[in-house]
Amino acid sequence: MKNRRRIYEGKAKILYEGPEPGTLIQFFKDDATAFNKKKQDVIDGKGVLNNRISEFIFTHLNQIGLPTHFIKRVNMREQLIKEVDIVPLEVIVRNIAAGTLAKRLGLEEGAVLPRSIIEFCYKEDALDDPLVSEEHITAFGWASPQEIDDIMAMAIRVNDFLTGLFAGVGIQLVDFKIEFGRLFEGDQMRIVLADEISPDSCRLWDVKTQQKLDKDVFRRDLGSLTEAYQEVARRLGIMNENEAPRPSGPVLVKSDNDD
Ligand code: C5P
Repeated sequence: MKNRRRIYEGKAKILYEGPEPGTLIQFFKDDATAFNKKKQDVIDGKGVLNNRISEFIFTHLNQIGLPTHFIKRVNMREQLIKEVDIVPLEVIVRNIAAGTLAKRLGLEEGAVLPRSIIEFCYKEDALDDPLVSEEHITAFGWASPQEIDDIMAMAIRVNDFLTGLFAGVGIQLVDFKIEFGRLFEGDQMRIVLADEISPDSCRLWDVKTQQKLDKDVFRRDLGSLTEAYQEVARRLGIMNENEAPRPSGPVLVKSDNDD
């Protein structure tokens, strides 16, 4: 595996050529970056945790019939995925005001939004991934109107699934970022979910304490990022405290009323 071809290196992941045509290996690094690389660190174990959490989520999304690039996890840091042409958009779904939305519109962090809001950013590091509208997307040919419809429908399904998954383990899904790709099968092309879904790309708050269990811990120097991500993995039933795999599934968090 040492001489395999590197196809792409991003901030948190590397893509290598896969064992079969049309496949790639997605490697999760320990590098943490924020504010478009203005803040950087290496956090032992982050890649392993994100690989496991993203595997768990993509496996469930595949099972509910939402098409993704994910095939299987192959080891601690790597997944086998289908090769896709990434749509150059970051698709952000928000349920609660936080981050750049709160700043841009002067909203109080934590305010529940009137409804879930989808935003698009153009994926271009040199421009700091600017917010764009459907007009920009279609005018510049980044995606067609039909593809935008498919992406929005899938983003809502992902939001519904993740909201329920995390609510069941006492975590509020504040917002998240996802990416999509074009999968070519024969002469057919369809849009599938790509990249990863992990605490690097979501805002996750403990329901009771509002403690942050996501990359804001790193962005805002709030403590140990690994401990926060381990807590997410533990609650989802992916790993126990010793990080041994536990196949049992989500851990039900009892509400105060259950006692
Ligand atoms: O920073 P902002 O509030 O726009 O982020 C919204 C959501 O998208 C957050 O969950 C954040 O972690 C995620 N995001 C991301 N990668 C980016 C920008 C935002 O994963 N480049």
